[in-house]
Amino acid sequence: MTRWVLSQQQHVTEATGDLTLLLSAIQFGCKFVASKVKQAGLINLLGLAGKANVQGEDVKKLDVLANDIFRNALIASGKACLLVSEEDDNAMVIKDPEQRGKYIVTFDPLDGSSNIDCGVSIGTIFGIFKVDDSNNPSEKDLIRSGRDLIAAGYCMYGSYCEMILSVGNGVNGFTLDPAIGEFIMTHPNITMPSRGKIYSVNEGNYKYFDEPCKKYVDQVKQKYSARYVGSMVSDVHRTLLYGGIFGYPADAKSKRGKLRILYEVFPMAYLVEQAGGKASTGTQNALDIVPEHIHDRSGVWLGSKEDVEELESFYKQ
Ligand code: AHG
Ligand code: MN
Ligand code: MN
Repeated sequence: MTRWVLSQQQHVTEATGDLTLLLSAIQFGCKFVASKVKQAGLINLLGLAGKANVQGEDVKKLDVLANDIFRNALIASGKACLLVSEEDDNAMVIKDPEQRGKYIVTFDPLDGSSNIDCGVSIGTIFGIFKVDDSNNPSEKDLIRSGRDLIAAGYCMYGSYCEMILSVGNGVNGFTLDPAIGEFIMTHPNITMPSRGKIYSVNEGNYKYFDEPCKKYVDQVKQKYSARYVGSMVSDVHRTLLYGGIFGYPADAKSKRGKLRILYEVFPMAYLVEQAGGKASTGTQNALDIVPEHIHDRSGVWLGSKEDVEELESFYKQ
C-alpha cells in the first residue's frame, strides 16, 4: 500500500510526501487495532469503558483504545493540524508548529461498537481534508461540504482485514497479511455494479420511517434480499463489492439520522462515488451537505447508482 500511495503521488507535481506519511500513520493505527480486536476477549478488552461520549452513547473499551491509537499515530505523523474523532467532544488542535501539518483528519476509530462483544466485523472510518493556512486551525475549517475531501477510506476488521482507500482517482482495496504486517493490494480499481440485488436497512425502525421511505422499503423487499450487519463499515463494504443499497434514514426517532456527517457519511459517500455509485440523503447528494457542528448527523442512502436514484424518485413523488 505504501508503495502504491508513493507511486500515485509521483504524478502530483506539488506532492511533498506529507499525505504518504499521514496515510502511513493511519495504516499503523489500523494494524494496531486489528491486532487488539483479534485478542480482545483474551486481554480484557471486551465490554464497556464505563462512560458515555458527547453523543450520549455508551463507550466500549475498544472504542477508547482505538481512539488513543489513532490520535497518537496521527499526532506523531506531524502532518495533521486538526483531528475530529467520534469519541472526543471537541476537535483536537495540534498547537505545536513542529508537530503540525496541513491536513484535517476526521475519524470514527471503531465503527460498529454494538457488534464488538459478539465478534461480528467492525471497522475504522477516516476522511482527510487539506487546509490552506495550517497556522490557526479550528472547527470552522470543517464548515464545508464533502466535496472538499482529498482522500477517505475505511478498514474492516472482519474475516479478513481490509483497507479501502481513495485519494481521488478511484477506489482500491488492500488486505492485511498478518504474517508480514503489510496491506497488499487485492481489490484494484473497485467499481460498483449499476444495480444490485440487496437492500440493507434497520427495518426495526420501519414504524418511524417517513412515507417515501416506507414505500421504497415496501417495494424493494419484493425483489431484493435483505442483509444488515449493523456495522456501517461492513454494510458499506458488502455494498461496494456486491452492489445494492444501504441506508440509515432520518426518521421520527432519529430526526437528523444516526450517522455522523464528518466521519461516517462523508468518507463513505466519497468512496461510493469514486467507485461509480451514489450517496444521497433522499433529497440531496450526500457530499453536498455542509455540517454546522463537528458531530452533526444526517440520513443517508448509498450504493449502486440506479438503486439510489430509485430511492430518490420516491422522495420526488
Ligand atoms: P458507532 O459504533 O461508531 O457508534 O456506529 C454505529 C453505527 C453504524 O456502524 C451502523 O450502521 C449503525 O450505527 C447501526 O445502528 P442501529 O443499531 O440503530 O441499526
Ligand atoms: Mn460509526
Ligand atoms: Mn464508533
